[in-house]
Amino acid sequence: MSLSIETLNPNIGARLRGIDLTQPIDRGLVTEITSAIDEYGILVFPDQYINDEQQRAFTLNFGPLEDASGGHIAKSDENRLSDGIIDVSNLGMDGKPLAKDNRHHLFNLGNMLWHSDSSFRTIPAAYSILSARVVNPVGGNTEFANMRTAYDDLDEHSKSEIEDLICEHSLMYSRGELGFLDFTDEEKEMFKPVRQRLVREHPRTGAKTLFLSSHAGSIVDMQMPMARILLRDLTEHATQPKYVYVHKWQAGDLVMWDNQQTMHRVRRYDQSQPRDMRRTTVAGLAPTIG
Ligand code: OGA
Ligand code: MN
Repeated sequence: MSLSIETLNPNIGARLRGIDLTQPIDRGLVTEITSAIDEYGILVFPDQYINDEQQRAFTLNFGPLEDASGGHIAKSDENRLSDGIIDVSNLGMDGKPLAKDNRHHLFNLGNMLWHSDSSFRTIPAAYSILSARVVNPVGGNTEFANMRTAYDDLDEHSKSEIEDLICEHSLMYSRGELGFLDFTDEEKEMFKPVRQRLVREHPRTGAKTLFLSSHAGSIVDMQMPMARILLRDLTEHATQPKYVYVHKWQAGDLVMWDNQQTMHRVRRYDQSQPRDMRRTTVAGLAPTIG
């Protein structure tokens, strides 16, 4: 089988066929996939009916898994899935959709805001790999926006205005935007803001990108309302349809995206029906602040 690459939106995304992720892949293919993601930002691999072990093995080709601790309100004994597999479903331990007032469910709704995974960590994530095990019947598309093209298209004045700005990111900011404010003292400690450059260089290509995320809630040395307006304006610019690929999920889809040059969000879906999505995350290499 030879690899075929088909672009999805002229500015973002490609579909890769001719690859079977139930099997180990060789270094040559890893290099081809890495070059493709450098270029397209997100890759869709259709018809990959993989299990957790195969997903973990595929992920490890691109680097070590990110340590998932501190990224959620769940206690470790509440995890439905095995180590290293992040539960992005709407399901509880009993395999049924969580109740409307379930705290985990409400927290998870934060994924419906534009974000870059783990931007709330000192070293934010490199790649995320999401496998669709059960697709929801209504809605639940995932949208991806290209932060490199969005940066390139800014005028020179805006570029120089934001060049050296440092943002503070926290899960409390993204959840706070949804009115989810009841954090325990332990969670407040765990979700303490971290600093990230607003303009970062891609660690592989060197290209400048906008490092936006709904986790970004303040800017160092800027008044809060000014900071929020600036972040909103930039997000509005960066998520115009021309920069966005909308993925409509089919069972067996595996989607890999580069958090270092894209943002994403999931759209609303029928919460009374299952949506079983499982994520693995490749750790980033370094903080964005030197
Ligand atoms: C994620 C995420 C979106 C989705 O896994 O990081 O934001 O479609 N998921 O579930
Ligand atoms: Mn995410």
